[in-house]
Amino acid sequence: MRKPTGTLVMGMLLVSIFMFASGDQPVSKLRAHYDGLAMTPPMGWYPWNTFGQEPQNEKLIKEMAEALVSSGMREAGYAYIGPDEGICFYRAEDGRLTTNLERYPSGLRGLGDYIHQRGLKYALYTDAGTLTCSKAMPGTKGHEFEDMRQFAEWRCDYLKIDWCHTKGQDIVQTYTLLDEAQRGAGRPLVHSLCSWGVGEPWKWAAAVGHLWRTTGDICEPGKADWNSAMEIVLANEKLSEYAGAGHWNDPDMMIVGMPGLSEAQNRSLFSLWCLMAAPLIAGNDLRQMSESTRQILTNIEVIAIDQDPLGIQGHIIRQEGQVSIWGEKKLFDGSQAVLIFNQNNSPSQVTINWDEFGFSREAGLYVRDLWKHQTKGPITQGLTVMVPPNDVIMLRLSRSKDFPLPPIISADTYLISLRSKSSKPEKLSASLTIHNAGTTDLPLWEVHGPLPSWLSVKITKKGGNQIITNQINTAGLSPGYYHTTVRLDNTEPISKRPMSAFYYDVELEVK
Ligand code: GLA
Repeated sequence: MRKPTGTLVMGMLLVSIFMFASGDQPVSKLRAHYDGLAMTPPMGWYPWNTFGQEPQNEKLIKEMAEALVSSGMREAGYAYIGPDEGICFYRAEDGRLTTNLERYPSGLRGLGDYIHQRGLKYALYTDAGTLTCSKAMPGTKGHEFEDMRQFAEWRCDYLKIDWCHTKGQDIVQTYTLLDEAQRGAGRPLVHSLCSWGVGEPWKWAAAVGHLWRTTGDICEPGKADWNSAMEIVLANEKLSEYAGAGHWNDPDMMIVGMPGLSEAQNRSLFSLWCLMAAPLIAGNDLRQMSESTRQILTNIEVIAIDQDPLGIQGHIIRQEGQVSIWGEKKLFDGSQAVLIFNQNNSPSQVTINWDEFGFSREAGLYVRDLWKHQTKGPITQGLTVMVPPNDVIMLRLSRSKDFPLPPIISADTYLISLRSKSSKPEKLSASLTIHNAGTTDLPLWEVHGPLPSWLSVKITKKGGNQIITNQINTAGLSPGYYHTTVRLDNTEPISKRPMSAFYYDVELEVK
């Protein structure tokens, strides 16, 4: 990984006190340390790239949620979904954000419940200024604390906060206030800053959020643009030193699978996002996805590069004309990811050498092709490959024949709802299953912090799955509604790194 310059020596002296989230500024505490969220880049789907504002509504979001599940994307790790600037709320006379029921008839809480019941997490959008970009919705300026409480009431898990209509606002102060307001609201959520690189968020935002946009929009809604995507890739590539577990450079939602791109271009874009440890927020119409796009978006060996627990953003290590060789992407098991990207309109022959990737030339390495799913080796010195036009070859190099996949977690639900049948004390039980699409066997998840007296949680294993059994005892409870958010923690056993915390909601109605 590229090392921070200038402050490195100082950083070494302060290492026990400060985390260095960036090359320039010490960050005393990462936001991700506070809530344990987004320790690997967030994955999900957002409507903006394909739909813009129209027709964003409840029906569309629900159809996409169903498609995330039926396409196998949920099992591959995609979880966050919800409206972008979808005219989903307005500010009522009492100052509160209120659902636009014409577009979202179940209310924003109802949509959140629907999403959680399907094993997905709820994403919403707002703006740090007075209005959202098209002026269609209110921004949070002056209402930071009550708005964040409202997002918590809607059970939001991921909030994208745009930077439109912010004249006169200091960017660091504004996003810091929004971070405080989120913490105060009591519901942990992923904070996605969206200032398109304004204010160089990579230098300070790791303390107040989990990811930040590094560039302008990747395309106009509905108009995938390869050239603009390439400009974004080059801008984001330069910022690799600032990314790490829990704090990510965000080159925008993906355009993979949108009309106008070839299969090779889709494969290239997806590989680039994964090598850069970028958030994987799909932006295509999942209901009409081709099988080729589905296979690209769910290639678990490539996703594993993105979701690697070390959280290193790879970058270009050598440029040969229109061919770039990407590396410095060490993975949790000691292997290295390599990407060879050919932007020529004709095939290009490329030789890579092991010493470019931190191995000795004499090392006998196994080479895994992550798109062909084939392993060769052991091979010494290096390798010569032919890369098709506008396409990539993505490899993993290892001294070992095994290529373990880090944990990639999904769940069948994030909402347990129970109701007592009578006024007598009752024992109720409901479970959820955590599935791991990786090949690394995890220790049991552990409950973080105290649970309310009415709830106990037992965690058991069944093959690669873990079953979270929730036992509820209504004895001693007065009639009413009870709710808690349970946090589970785990550690990845090969890298020994903390995994993203796993949160789910339990609600109980007592007669
Ligand atoms: C900005 C953001 C986009 C999208 C639009 C909505 O341009 O960068 O991703 O959220 O606002 O208006």
